[in-house]
Amino acid sequence: ASAVGLNLTDIQGDILIGMKKNKEFFLFFGISNVKTFKAKLRSTILPLVTPTPEVLPGATQPNTLLNIAFSFPGLVALNVTDPTIGDVSFTGGQEQAASNLGDPGTTNWVPQFVNDANSIHGVILLASDTVDNVNATLNSLQSELGDCITEIYSLQAAARPGAEQGHEHFGFLDGISNPAVVGFQTPLPGQAVVPTGQILVGEPGDQNITVRPSWAKVAFYPHPSTDSEQWVKDGSFLVFRQLKQLVPEFNKFLTDNPIREPALTPQQGSDLLGARMIGRWKSGAPVFLSPFFDNATLGNDTQLNNDFTYAVPGTNNSNTTDQSKCPVSAHIRKTRPRADLGLPENTTHHIVRGGIPYGPEVTAAEASSNTTEIERGLAFVAYQSDISLGFEFLQEAWANNPNFRVPNTGYDPIIGADEGAQRFVTGLDPTNTSRSFTLATDFVVSRGGQYFFSPSLSAIANTLSV
Ligand code: HEM
Repeated sequence: ASAVGLNLTDIQGDILIGMKKNKEFFLFFGISNVKTFKAKLRSTILPLVTPTPEVLPGATQPNTLLNIAFSFPGLVALNVTDPTIGDVSFTGGQEQAASNLGDPGTTNWVPQFVNDANSIHGVILLASDTVDNVNATLNSLQSELGDCITEIYSLQAAARPGAEQGHEHFGFLDGISNPAVVGFQTPLPGQAVVPTGQILVGEPGDQNITVRPSWAKVAFYPHPSTDSEQWVKDGSFLVFRQLKQLVPEFNKFLTDNPIREPALTPQQGSDLLGARMIGRWKSGAPVFLSPFFDNATLGNDTQLNNDFTYAVPGTNNSNTTDQSKCPVSAHIRKTRPRADLGLPENTTHHIVRGGIPYGPEVTAAEASSNTTEIERGLAFVAYQSDISLGFEFLQEAWANNPNFRVPNTGYDPIIGADEGAQRFVTGLDPTNTSRSFTLATDFVVSRGGQYFFSPSLSAIANTLSV
């Protein structure tokens, strides 16, 4: 890959490409001894940090890949110049954003993300093919680091087994549509191409807007804003969310509400309802291109499975309100409206997603009782150069907004949330797109998380470890 001026060896590998391993361990740690930690950060951790070239196709990879990111309290502890990096969401932390994000406060949160929010100084991401490899790296890391860090919380995540590999717990293929940064990857058909600064801090396009929108919480200034803050360049903000998925409950909703289209069996009607909630079939085939039945050939074909805009095919007819082929509220249409906001597509609200499922498969007992007993979900990871223009914007201004673009079309049925209140969604029934469904439960329950900054390798070497 040729990179327009990007110093790929300086950029952590999870950001632009993703570590994409079947097992991933998230270690949320506190720094107990700053001086020792800084020394070990440089001597022990930095040599293990996986840079972007090592995750490019065909690269020789170590057994276990490692990335590291720091929270605002972590950067404060490390005593860097301007730990805020000019990002008010990062500085405030995710807990402060809970209600704005639609969570019913922090009632459902993992306790450590609430009680220890100021003590979680960073997160280490370990990715490998096997849990044994992850544990081996973890053990040697812990013995090298001794007690200069404290484990506060951890999450072992893993791709689902067998044919479900790559699919999230509701059953849908994930990881299809991520933006490419300009000049780096050759974009696949339909892939969004965004300025490098949309994902990487301090690159062209970072906060490259002259009028801050009214919903924004502060006046912005470009980062890095002064010479002493150059260390933030080529880092990226990492949003972590532990999103619990109520899979048996989701499946029951589909079984109870099949789309009644004469050509479809009840099972096919239920499958169609689920596909229209996401905007893709389980195979990954977009409902916009395959409106009534799944098409695995289309779903697997990376030249075709992302090549659509929601505009009337063959036209540049953007801003359509037609829902016959895909609901306006479908998860992928809410989170990337493509031509709906006009062409060329906006390049301001894109994130690179690198999440992975956690938790076991649904048990027979859970399936027969339609009730979740063991927690499972998505360890959601998103990278962007500005949290309020990236993750928060997608969640708050689009997914949680029933009036986004078309009044009263409803919430994103997957992630849209209103602090636990009942949600409605229209457009799911192609035979009557104004029919409204009530979603009595949130099938995705936020267990909270934190905002982190994933710095460049040179920032680790020259700023964070000194
Ligand atoms: C795409 C599931 C949470 C943003 C997708 C896809 C699936 C999916 C199946 C389609 C595959 C793909 O295009 O790569 C889920 C589930 C979630 C979840 C089950 C929660 C448990 C989120 C959150 C956000 C988000 C919290 C951001 C606020 C996106 C975006 C896309 C996407 C931007 C790509 C849309 C496109 O480019 O067409 N998600 N997702 N997702 N999701 Fe999620």
